[in-house]
Amino acid sequence: MNQKPMKGLILSGGHGTRLRPITHTSAKQLVPIVNKPILFYGIEALKEAGIEDIGIVVGDTQAEIQEAVGDGSRWEVNITYIPQEKPLGLAHAVLIAKDFIQESPFIMYLGDNVIKGGVQTFVNEFKRTTPTSQILLVRVSNPEQFGVAELVEQRVIKLEEKPQFPKSNLALVGVYLFDSHIFKAVQSIDYSKRGELEITDAIQWLIDQGYHVQSHIIQGWWKDTGKLEDLLEANRMMSDALETKISGHVDAASKVEFKVVIEAGATVVNSLIRGPAIIGKDTRITNAYVGPFTSINEACEIESSEIEHSIVLRNSRIIGIRHRISDSLIGKNVHILGNERKIHNHQFMVGDNSKIELM
Ligand code: G1P
Repeated sequence: MNQKPMKGLILSGGHGTRLRPITHTSAKQLVPIVNKPILFYGIEALKEAGIEDIGIVVGDTQAEIQEAVGDGSRWEVNITYIPQEKPLGLAHAVLIAKDFIQESPFIMYLGDNVIKGGVQTFVNEFKRTTPTSQILLVRVSNPEQFGVAELVEQRVIKLEEKPQFPKSNLALVGVYLFDSHIFKAVQSIDYSKRGELEITDAIQWLIDQGYHVQSHIIQGWWKDTGKLEDLLEANRMMSDALETKISGHVDAASKVEFKVVIEAGATVVNSLIRGPAIIGKDTRITNAYVGPFTSINEACEIESSEIEHSIVLRNSRIIGIRHRISDSLIGKNVHILGNERKIHNHQFMVGDNSKIELM
């Protein structure tokens, strides 16, 4: 049995190339899902699993991450920042975290991953069965974009990072549990073709040395939010859990339908908000439609426009846009201005076998 309390290691470096241009100016882990930075979901998942000593590996965006997260007291955890000079891979992050982890078992959590239902079950299983490592797998339709596991009778025999010809559709989830044997593994492997020390190779090293690597196929929902569509899907997934709470002001001419959160200081004037949706604090929605699965951050202005299935970051303005905006990620301090101030609304009650075309 591992006697030492488990630590947490959250990886929050990397360049976020697949989310450019947003990540030119911001860390990808701070993009909000339902108005909360992705990274906070990870911290909360670890805290919920009883982990209070958390290291965050940071890169170029260290200052921004540190400012957003602070010392962890908000979640009653202790946060230690571990700077990584260059994004040299997940196994490299483990290597530089050795002084922080010491001899403790730990859970490594990729800061851009969101896993519904948290990690408590996996932490408990790891504590109970004490393998050298435990990995989580999920069935995906695009395994070539992930680390892929090959199993024989539930035993992992081979892991490959982003293989051209995947041997299965079981992708590695960005949540891994290790005991201190992993330090020997990360010291023993070489840099991969993409110039990184791959955690996938380090776990393969453990397997090759005969250590017990346990796998767990998760049935629940999980996303690596590295790309726009995945981010919007994560926003949809998490929005679904919203419960209506109106702390701002909604005027009599407006309608709020289904699960909608209107944060303090927000105002909704002559508009329709159809949830699940969240309107951030001090945001103003005027003569507009905000549709399902939309998260508008704080201090924004949406006027005479329609938007749905989208994320808008703080302090942005969308005014007078004639066509509905959907499936979009709009950064901070963005202005999208049109000149059509009036939205023409159609309302239909149309009988069977009708045909209507509006051009
Ligand atoms: C990393 C891992 C990969 C894993 C994925 C999960 O990929 O290398 O094995 O499946 O995270 O999010 P990356 O996001 O660094 O391309």
